[in-house]
Amino acid sequence: MMKKDVIQVALLGLGTVGNGVYKVMKLQEPEMARKLGAVLKIKRILVRDLEKAAKKVDDPSVLTNDWQEIIQDDSIDIVIEVMGGLEPAGTYIKEALRAGKNVVTANKDLIAVRGGELLDAAADHQVDLLFEAAVAGGIPIINPLKNSLSANYISEVMGIVNGTTNFILSKMTEEGMDYSQALAIATELGYAEADPTADVEGHDAGRKMAIMASIAFHSRVTFQDVYTEGITKITEQDIAYAKELGWVIKLLGVVKNTPEGVEARVHPMLLPKSHPLATVSGSYNAVFVHGDAVDDVMFYGRGAGEMPTASAVMGDVFEVAKNIACGITGSTHCGCYKKLPIKKIDDIVSRYFLRMEVEDKPGVLATVASVLGNNSVSIAQVVQKATSGDDAEIVVITDRVRERHLKDALLTFEHMSIIKSVSALIRVYG
Ligand code: NAP
Ligand code: HSE
Repeated sequence: MMKKDVIQVALLGLGTVGNGVYKVMKLQEPEMARKLGAVLKIKRILVRDLEKAAKKVDDPSVLTNDWQEIIQDDSIDIVIEVMGGLEPAGTYIKEALRAGKNVVTANKDLIAVRGGELLDAAADHQVDLLFEAAVAGGIPIINPLKNSLSANYISEVMGIVNGTTNFILSKMTEEGMDYSQALAIATELGYAEADPTADVEGHDAGRKMAIMASIAFHSRVTFQDVYTEGITKITEQDIAYAKELGWVIKLLGVVKNTPEGVEARVHPMLLPKSHPLATVSGSYNAVFVHGDAVDDVMFYGRGAGEMPTASAVMGDVFEVAKNIACGITGSTHCGCYKKLPIKKIDDIVSRYFLRMEVEDKPGVLATVASVLGNNSVSIAQVVQKATSGDDAEIVVITDRVRERHLKDALLTFEHMSIIKSVSALIRVYG
């Protein structure tokens, strides 16, 4: 094998993360040769708008809007995909792997749906496919799950894995900021996806949980297997009640390997203020992992943004470069050797926060309690406040109950005239 002094790289996309990758590549230049035994050089950058991109790079001659110039260039060893989306990113990655090029990507949309297939293609062609940046931005979590923690039976991964929604909820809770204003700032700071619906509806977090579950449990969990609920229904009232009761509302991802199957879900959750995740604020993310040997481990850091994400991307690029130097690319195969069933959301067991508007008259509270009781839902706490006119607002915190039973109780409420509406249903930690 001929040792390479220069490893040629192609960058696909020059947006938030692409810019960060470009900057980190330059910052690392002085020490690259000593760290890697070779120098990385960006040979091509694929963009859509050459004129717009020319302002962002030192040498505009590296820019192209023609994928063929990259795929047909045999001197390119590593393709860094930071365009996002399922297509054409999926086709480009597959073609690059088939052409014997190593790939590093931050694309969770793609990995959460086609990860197994793309890892198989990488193994078939003896090249690497790495995607650390696809989960929790700058936090190293994929590599620890694949390597450092691989001698564990991991039973649970739980955490805050979306920077945009954590930023929005933190601003709403700590500064009383309006939802739309907080989302606009998160977008401006480069945290949000091209279409922020993916963030606020919990889809981005769902993709990340699917990727982590697949690696942690050695069983393929795809985005479609994850129950997702976002933060768009969380109101100022819910945040105020949570504060009053000593809690904070966070968008949490939870995956558990249970005897009944894999539980995979993303939804808002009320956490006690004393919980370590309650203090994870702004664009920070945190991931808890429970393994049989290691017990609990927590990973914490910036979950989104230009430079933190570029840190994760470039860490992967360095690893690939070292593998190229040692002639050992192609060892990143799909580790899903089990086929575990997926548990339905109705079968999970949790505590719940219910906020409902009811008629303010004698016996209503007793009726609510009796409907819940008849459906095996036990009440842990109740708060009642008079609102306007003849109505009152009741907040009920339940004990742990199977979700199906709670939903049966809600169906009964729908047919009762004394219950005007159930305006919030939020799962509660514990
Ligand atoms: P972004 O700012 O929207 O950048 C994407 C760039 O790719 C844009 O400049 C876009 O060009 C370009 N692009 C899209 N399709 C293209 C095509 N067919 N040919 C050439 N260029 C194309 O997005 P980003 O925030 O950098 O995210 C990139 C990826 O990283 C996504 O997969 C995202 O999920 C992931 N990620 C992002 C973060 C973060 O904090 N932002 C963190 C972790 C992972 P135009 O400007 O012309 O649209
Ligand atoms: N939109 C994502 C977030 C980027 O807000 O967490 C990091 O994956």
